[in-house]
Amino acid sequence: MKKFIAFIGLLFLIYNSFADESTYYPGYSLSNVQQNSGGFTGDLTMISPGPYGDDIPNLSLNVEYQTETRVRIKIYDPNNARWEVPKIKLIQIKSNLNQIKLNQIKLNQRELNNEVLFNTTPPDTHDYNGLIFENLYIEINSKTAKNPNIYGLGERIYDFKLNTSNHTYVMFTKDNGNEEDVNLYGVHPFYIELREETHLFHGVFILNSNAMDVTLNPDHLTYRTIGGILDIYIFTGVSIDDVISQYTDLVGKPPMIPYFALGFHQCRWGYKDLDVCKTVVEQYKAHQLPLDTFWMDIDYMDEHKDFTFDPVNYPQEEVKEFVEQLHEDNQHYVIILDPGIKVEEGYAPYDDGISDGIFIISADTKLPYTAPVWPGECNFPDFTNPKTYSYWSKFIQQIFDEGIILDGLWVDMNELVTFDSSEELSESSESKKVERDSINLPYVPGGVNLNYRTVNLSAIHNTSIAFNLHSMYGFMEAKATASILTETKKTRIFVISRSTYAGHGHHAFHWLGDNYSTYKSMATSIQGILNMNMFGIPLVGADICGFSGNTTAELCARWIELGSFYPFSRDHNSIGMKSQELYALGDQVTNISRNVLLNRYSLIPYYYTLFYYSHEIGTPIWRALVYDFPEDPNTYSIDKQFLVGNALLVTPVLEEGATSVEGYFPNSDWYDYWSGEKILTKNSTLTFGKNLTLDAPLDKINVAIRGGYIIPKQEPALTTAESRNNSFELLAAIDSETGSASGKLFFDDGISLDTSQNSSSLIFELTYFSGFSYFETYILESNYDLLNHVLLDKMTFYGVDNITTLWVNNIKYPFEYDSTLKVLRIKGLNLSLNERFQIIWKTN
Ligand code: NOJ
Repeated sequence: MKKFIAFIGLLFLIYNSFADESTYYPGYSLSNVQQNSGGFTGDLTMISPGPYGDDIPNLSLNVEYQTETRVRIKIYDPNNARWEVPKIKLIQIKSNLNQIKLNQIKLNQRELNNEVLFNTTPPDTHDYNGLIFENLYIEINSKTAKNPNIYGLGERIYDFKLNTSNHTYVMFTKDNGNEEDVNLYGVHPFYIELREETHLFHGVFILNSNAMDVTLNPDHLTYRTIGGILDIYIFTGVSIDDVISQYTDLVGKPPMIPYFALGFHQCRWGYKDLDVCKTVVEQYKAHQLPLDTFWMDIDYMDEHKDFTFDPVNYPQEEVKEFVEQLHEDNQHYVIILDPGIKVEEGYAPYDDGISDGIFIISADTKLPYTAPVWPGECNFPDFTNPKTYSYWSKFIQQIFDEGIILDGLWVDMNELVTFDSSEELSESSESKKVERDSINLPYVPGGVNLNYRTVNLSAIHNTSIAFNLHSMYGFMEAKATASILTETKKTRIFVISRSTYAGHGHHAFHWLGDNYSTYKSMATSIQGILNMNMFGIPLVGADICGFSGNTTAELCARWIELGSFYPFSRDHNSIGMKSQELYALGDQVTNISRNVLLNRYSLIPYYYTLFYYSHEIGTPIWRALVYDFPEDPNTYSIDKQFLVGNALLVTPVLEEGATSVEGYFPNSDWYDYWSGEKILTKNSTLTFGKNLTLDAPLDKINVAIRGGYIIPKQEPALTTAESRNNSFELLAAIDSETGSASGKLFFDDGISLDTSQNSSSLIFELTYFSGFSYFETYILESNYDLLNHVLLDKMTFYGVDNITTLWVNNIKYPFEYDSTLKVLRIKGLNLSLNERFQIIWKTN
């Protein structure tokens, strides 16, 4: 088996005897191939020098078959150690028997197909090069399918399905606002390809943190990086969930989230004082709008300095009381932290940073690197220095010690953005100079000055220089912050970070940064969330109603409709903009917001169960339609609709003034989530589904539930603490061919670090046999006591044929049946989900 995967994973090399054009680089020849128990090694010898000089003529190749579904290809300089990304994952892979079995079976399928997933042999036509490996330029090409379907390579705002007509995607963390088609806050050099002939997915990840370009062409892709080594991982799939699971096995699965993280969050930059904050929280209550978490932006700080409170506008004692009140009301509190520490003697975080020697050092002055951010001139903690952990921890701990109990932290500006914008450093400046050993970079990914508005890449960290570490800064800061909060609170915590790197989702979460109050920004948030979920960051959302610019009532209404389905649902606004709290834009927006947020709260058991599986397996919360319908090419480019789990299909209005919306419904049974009305019936003779136009008045977001699925719900409330104590409900949509449906529920206390002995985990199954429908629960775990008291009250079934008699646990039971909509409702059940029960009905 293992030997075979060698050919699936890799067709090496590189040598081509027709190398004659001057711009063509034939690569390296492979010799001395030695098989070993886990793969093979070989020597690579340069055939002719590359374009920019300083070639490394002798390289080592190491191919490891790491698991049944993962191949690692490492190409490095055996004579001089180069920068390698440190191990990014620290946990052990949980064994999951079902998953392993599934992969083995499916791997056979791929084996039968005899597919080559990564092929670095340059074609005879010399359309692209063989391997180039120079000190400041590494290039490797891989042949793909024709016009491949490729997804991933974030973070950016772009179509979800990437452009393969010679389009370049830059990998370098940067605060580029929400500009389209440029590198943004995070770096995830991971893509997933769907092969159209086989409908199978595989993934490729390059573990390299240097500035990089990835160019997609109709038949090949090109990596160009300016440092490090080539460390490439291939995941053989074959379903999308397999690939994401295999990827997150490597970079780390998400932790369990605290339950309240799924509630609604209110934030803004520009709440001028604590009174304004109090009013916001009161107004949410007064308008009966759900609110779980209140956030403070940099306004709370004294002159924008981390770990301080403005003595006039946010007196610490009063903030403490405010937070106590939030907690009393079952609400939560999060504040922002920026990496820049103001250079100011007498300010403890600065003084200690200097005495602890934990700041990043300037290569020029050999003193702490200084650049302006919000508080003025700042130094920047170096999170590669182990001493920085205790430093950062001390000041976070101090907030707790002073009685302000945080429920999470928000780490911003960590790309690492600075405000210097002198002429010489302008983005378009001709000098592409990174002062790395005073060398001008011969090749600059993205073609713009990499030093623009960030810490110079020559700056010195404890383990290396910013040239290598730049794109990992936010990841390292978020990882340390999350670990400190976990140690402090000894509960699950929640850190949201603007900058991310591969593996970020194992520690912390993300929001999509500074979007605009525009329909375009609202629309592109969908691809942003799909991408982050693909990268193993399940908890992610965009600023609802928009950050920059003034929102409108209509936009905000449409956005909260969509945002109520975001995995992370937060309204956030920039300073100086029109207020956009959900009560601030008139009654209509308030009423719409209340309805859709109460619906969100009712769906939290479903979301939480999805997050549990994301934690266990890596499964994304939001799914592009192509994930579930890879045999239907109509789904490949869809990024204006999305699935939540496998069961819900959301078709939001993304245009101003619209009263209807078009959506694609893949071939399946789809029912209107709200009413149960049938939208589309599965036709087993067809591959394709249908484009449908749906009514979408301002107060409606179209949501469909897919036949074959059962979702757990709970009576909503204004906080998750309350809603999780309300009765349960199950909503089932029946598959018209089989009469069946199934679903899952995972529930625990939502906050403890390890609930393995104290959780309930269930599978719901509806089957049909000879005129009778049987609903049963299968109990995997039933240890969570709450479910002995918080009971299942209602069940609703969509797509039920005429029904004559119904039994609950073998006793006849009353029901309501709507023969027009074919909806069955059962109420007043009072059943504990910790115990098995059965419902049977007879159809005539
Ligand atoms: C930039 C962040 O992206 C934004 O969300 C925040 O409000 C401002 N910084 C101010 O802290």
